[in-house]
Amino acid sequence: MNSPTYDFTNSWFEQTSKFVWDQVISHIDPTRILEIGSYEGASTCYLIEKLAISKGIELHCVDTWEGGIEHKIGKDKVDMIGIEKRFNANTKLAISKVDNPVQLVIHREFSDTALSKMIAEGKKGYFDFIYIDGSQQAPDVLCDAILSFRLLKKNGVLAFDEYLWQEKLPYGIDPIRCPKPAIDAFTNIYCRKIKILRTPNTELYIRKVAN
Ligand SMILES: C[S@@+](CC[C@H](N)C(=O)[O-])C[C@H]1O[C@@H](n2cnc3c(N)ncnc32)[C@H](O)[C@@H]1O
Repeated sequence: MNSPTYDFTNSWFEQTSKFVWDQVISHIDPTRILEIGSYEGASTCYLIEKLAISKGIELHCVDTWEGGIEHKIGKDKVDMIGIEKRFNANTKLAISKVDNPVQLVIHREFSDTALSKMIAEGKKGYFDFIYIDGSQQAPDVLCDAILSFRLLKKNGVLAFDEYLWQEKLPYGIDPIRCPKPAIDAFTNIYCRKIKILRTPNTELYIRKVAN
């Protein structure tokens, strides 16, 4: 009988983050992880397989499973019910492949709400690694960055996916409908509290060096 395989409908994670994670995740070696934007679970399953092979992990996934603006319009409109079903099946499969416990906590809501609740619950400085890959709109990315900084422990790593992503709109490029201006504003304002790590410029990773 064939063993079950993951069901992903795109290769975003393979194309953008995977080759960076292959180099950095083992060094960061996080135990408490927060992922903003999980979609079908490609990045989630990578983290489970890579880390829970050697130790137990706590992995919080925040997603509305409603898609970003770019998933809701025109020919790119996506069936998000199917996406969420695949996330559940894929993460179940990943957990079945590893020997150590995986505490998977799903926050099915907007990231500003989920992250604010975690801060209110006392999770400031809780996470070792936070991956921001939710909304790609600059105001949302800035909000995710600021709230995530509070949730990240000192010496923890914050990773922004898609630093250079731009939405191709009928009228060209909208400078606010992309993550870069928000990531730049965050890294400029927090320059005394962070260190930018050396990674390919499709991604931007920072280490928190002060609270
Ligand atoms: C690019 S996908 C994530 C891809 C995933 N990390 C992977 O590697 O396959 C972005 C996800 O963010 C979610 N999302 C968009 N805006 C959001 C928001 N404001 N709050 C929570 N989730 C959001 C979407 O529903 C979508 O599933």
